[in-house]
Amino acid sequence: MSSKKQRSQTKKIALCSLIVIVLPNYFPNLFSPLSSSYPTLFSEWNAPRSMHLHLLDGALHQEISNEQQAELWSPLPNQGWKPCAETSDDHALPKKPRGYLQVFLDGGLNQQRMGICDAVAVAKILNATLVVPLLEVNPVWKDTSSFEDIFDVDYFINALKFDIKIVRELPQEFSWSTREYYATGIRATRVKSAPVRASAFWYLENVLPVMQSYGIAAIAPFSHRLAFDNLPSDIQHLRCKVNFHALVFVPHIRMLGETLVNRLQSPPSIDKELDTMDLQQSIHHEKRAGKYVVVHLRFDKDMASHSACDFRGGKAEKLALAKYRQVLWQGRVLNSQFTDEELRRQGRCPLTPEEIGILLSALGFRNDTRLYLASHKVYGGEARISTMRKLFPFMEDKKSLVSDEELTEVEEKASMLAAVDYYVSMKSDIFISASPGNMHNALLAHRAYENLKTIRPNMVLLGKLFLNKSMEWAEFQKAVQDGHKNRRGQIRLRKEKQSIYTYPAPDCMCQA
Ligand SMILES: *[C@@H]1O[C@H](CO)[C@@H](O)[C@H](O)[C@H]1NC(C)=O
Ligand SMILES: *[C@@H]1O[C@H](CO)[C@@H](O)[C@H](O)[C@H]1NC(C)=O
Ligand SMILES: *[C@@H]1O[C@H](CO)[C@@H](O)[C@H](O)[C@H]1NC(C)=O
Repeated sequence: MSSKKQRSQTKKIALCSLIVIVLPNYFPNLFSPLSSSYPTLFSEWNAPRSMHLHLLDGALHQEISNEQQAELWSPLPNQGWKPCAETSDDHALPKKPRGYLQVFLDGGLNQQRMGICDAVAVAKILNATLVVPLLEVNPVWKDTSSFEDIFDVDYFINALKFDIKIVRELPQEFSWSTREYYATGIRATRVKSAPVRASAFWYLENVLPVMQSYGIAAIAPFSHRLAFDNLPSDIQHLRCKVNFHALVFVPHIRMLGETLVNRLQSPPSIDKELDTMDLQQSIHHEKRAGKYVVVHLRFDKDMASHSACDFRGGKAEKLALAKYRQVLWQGRVLNSQFTDEELRRQGRCPLTPEEIGILLSALGFRNDTRLYLASHKVYGGEARISTMRKLFPFMEDKKSLVSDEELTEVEEKASMLAAVDYYVSMKSDIFISASPGNMHNALLAHRAYENLKTIRPNMVLLGKLFLNKSMEWAEFQKAVQDGHKNRRGQIRLRKEKQSIYTYPAPDCMCQA
C-alpha cells in the first residue's frame, strides 16, 4: 500500500520536473505571440533576509588544505568511454530527396539546440532536404536572433554534407511556405500534430505523405518531438554528431567567449587594472592558465515563481510571485499544493545564490576562486547575490569582465548571451549547475561527452541540510562532501525514456 503511494508520489515528482524542464513549452506562443498578456515587472522586492546565518560564519572562515584543493580541481580520470568514431561518406545521401522539411523551433537556445538535432535526424529518416531551422521568438526571452546569428551556418551545412542535404532557404517555388503563411490559416503542408517523442515510424506514416504530395512539410511545434528509444544507431549517432560536432557558434560569439575565458584564466588583481590593449598582451605573454569554475544559476523570476517556494523576501515578494504564477501559469503549478518545507525536503526549490555560495564553500572552493556566474537575470539582483559575493569576492560575470562596447552585439539578446555562457562553461575546469533545465542538461551532456568535470548538486540532500537550523558547519560540510562524491561527472548511462541530449552514453559513446 505504502509502495503504491510512494510510486504515485514519484510519478508526481517526475511530472513536476518534466514541467520545469519543458517549461517554455507551456507558453502557447507558437504563431501567436502573447506579449499583451505578459506581465510587466513590478517593483515588489525588499532585500531578502539571509536564510542560513548559522552556516555563513563557518563558510566565511573555513580553511581548506592544499591536498583537498588539488583533489577538487584535478581533471576527471579516464572513465573508459570516448566519443564513437564517425565515418561517413556520400554513399549515405539519398539519390533523390523526397522533398523539403521545414521546422519551427520554440523555447530558449538550448531547447532549440535539441530541436535542431532532432530536425536533422527526422530529415535523415525521411530522406528530406532540411531547410535551416527557424528559431521562434520566445515570449520570456524575446530574442529575435536567427539560426545564422547564433550558429555558423556554413560550418553546419558542411559538417553534415555526407549525412543530409541542408539548404539555407527554400527555392522560389516554395517561398510561400513562411511563418506568416502558417500563422494566418489552416494549411495542408503544416504538420501540427506530431506527438511528443514520436517514433520514426510516425514520421514515415504522417509526414512523408505530406512531403510526397506537396514537395514540402512544415512541422510546428517541433520541440521534444522525436523519441529517444527504438531508433537505429546511425540516427542516434547523427543526433550527437549535430549536437557535439556540427553546431558551433558564429565567430563573434566564440571570440567574445574566448576573451572571457582568457580573463578568467588570468589573475584577478591584474586584469581589473589593465585596459584591453595591455590585457591582450598580458594574455599573450602569460600562458599560465589559471583555473576557473562556472556556476550556472537560474534564479530568475520564472523559476522562482514556478517553484512555489518561499525565498524570504518578505510578504511583498510572496504576493508578487503568487500573482506572477497566476498570470503566467494559471494554476498549473503543481508545487503550489505543497508547503515550503515539504518542497524543500523533496529538493524541489531552486537554490538561492546564498545557498550556492554556501554549497561551494562546503565543497571546498576557496574564497579566492575564480568563479564565473553564468546566468540570466537573478531575481532580486545584486541584493540577492551579495552573500555569494562575500564568500567569493572574485566572482565574475560578463559585465564585470568585458566592456560595454565588447558586449554591444549581444546586449539584450538572451540567446546570444546564453551562447556565450555555453562557450565559457564548456571551457571551464569545473561546471556546476544549480537548477535543472535545458542549459543544465545540455552542458551535462556535452561535458560528459568530453569527460570534463561537472558537479551536480544533490538537491534532496541539500534541501534537508538547509532545513536543519541546528547543524554546525563542520557537520554540514562533511554531509555535503559525502553526498557529492559520486556527482562529479562520473558517466551515467542513459536509461529508457531518458534524453540522449542529457546522457550521451552509451548511444554516442563507445568503450575505449
Ligand atoms: C579568505 O579566507 C581566509 C581564511 O579564512 C581569510 O583569511 C581571508 O581574509 C579571506 N579573503 C577574502 C578576500 O575574503
Ligand atoms: C531513404 O534512402 C535510403 C537509401 O537510399 C533507402 O534505403 C530508404 O528506403 C529511403 N527512405 C525513404 C523514406 O525514402
Ligand atoms: C539536525 O542536525 C542535528 C545534528 O546533526 C541532528 O541531531 C538533528 O536530529 C537534525 N534535525 C533534524 C530535524 O533532522
